[in-house]
Amino acid sequence: MLIDGHGRRVDYLRVSVTERCNFRCQYCMPEKPFSWVPRENLLSFEELFVFIRTAIDEGITKIRITGGEPLLREDLDKFIAMIHDYKNDIDLALTTNGYLLEETAQRLKDAGLRRINISLDSLKSEVAWKIAQKDILAKVLSGIDKAIEAGLKVKINMVPLKGVNDDEIVDILHYCRDRGIKVRFIEYMENAHASQSLQGMHGKEILARIKEAHTIRALGREGASPSFNYVLEDGTEFGLIDPHKHDFCESCNRIRLTAEGHLIPCLYFDEAMSIAEHVKKGDIAGASEVLAQVLRDKPKENRWSHENTDEGINESSRAFYQTGG
Ligand code: GTP
Ligand code: 5AD
Ligand code: SF4
Repeated sequence: MLIDGHGRRVDYLRVSVTERCNFRCQYCMPEKPFSWVPRENLLSFEELFVFIRTAIDEGITKIRITGGEPLLREDLDKFIAMIHDYKNDIDLALTTNGYLLEETAQRLKDAGLRRINISLDSLKSEVAWKIAQKDILAKVLSGIDKAIEAGLKVKINMVPLKGVNDDEIVDILHYCRDRGIKVRFIEYMENAHASQSLQGMHGKEILARIKEAHTIRALGREGASPSFNYVLEDGTEFGLIDPHKHDFCESCNRIRLTAEGHLIPCLYFDEAMSIAEHVKKGDIAGASEVLAQVLRDKPKENRWSHENTDEGINESSRAFYQTGG
């Protein structure tokens, strides 16, 4: 079992397989970065797997593949199959923008993927285009349909932004209700890489919009998930991810691995330690020692909530496309 320096059990590993993306979402990567991590610094699937195997042996039970956009990495289904074949009861999930899902959903499911979280910020073509800076909606919607058809457990992520898509919160809730899938509304997390003009919505404001159309009841947090769940009068469930409150940090169960082998203890902070040299040599003991160190140093909580304090720290310098969100 993996326990961090604050006594929290860590059983969830998020693995980013690429920082590249085919969208330019304004809240994440509004412009192509000045430089990408050079290809030769990317760990191969075999190298990533050396760490993943170690992490599974030590107590990781849930693995989520992220990016950038993970479906840009060739043969991702083979990587998923490697993990699934090593331990078939791993809760294996993927977070994607959905653009390439139409043609890959069935293959991912066949490889052993169980769950998939897909970003959907608008049901209006021109608004989705404005946010992602590309004409994406039709392909994303058919990707969602294909994922449901393939039997993957689908969740939708929406980031409401004032004056952009905040009028679509209830529409997206209904879209998900009609398909029997769950939506989580995510508070925009301020970060130095996002378009600076964006204004996110606080959890309370998001709930207020939903209350204009529905009666809602709080259900609570699902285990260590950052999502706080609610239910509508008709039984439809949805979630709210509100890092500005950061009460979910108390039960944080996750660490992140980047595509070049940096092990990151917390989404907000810059700290990271590399496992790259160890996995390239197949040095499991070395990788395991880095893992132990990262767990010892895992911060107690993020700092998005410190916006009104003297410290005034409210923006992360971390790029979400490097950490996989
Ligand atoms: P489930 O396994 O379905 O609960 O998914 P998840 O919420 O772990 O994964 P997903 O990739 O869909 O993340 C949804 C949103 O939650 C993204 O915006 C993430 O950045 C955010 N998120 C996930 N983990 C953390 C965390 O530890 N801290 C903060 N602040 N946000 C997180
Ligand atoms: N704030 C909130 N959510 C974000 N995501 C990416 N950047 C941000 C941000 N700045 C979300 C995407 C995707 C998930 C992986 O992270 O919408 O669903
Ligand atoms: Fe790409 Fe996801 Fe970032 Fe959008 S949020 S730019 S889809 S990595």
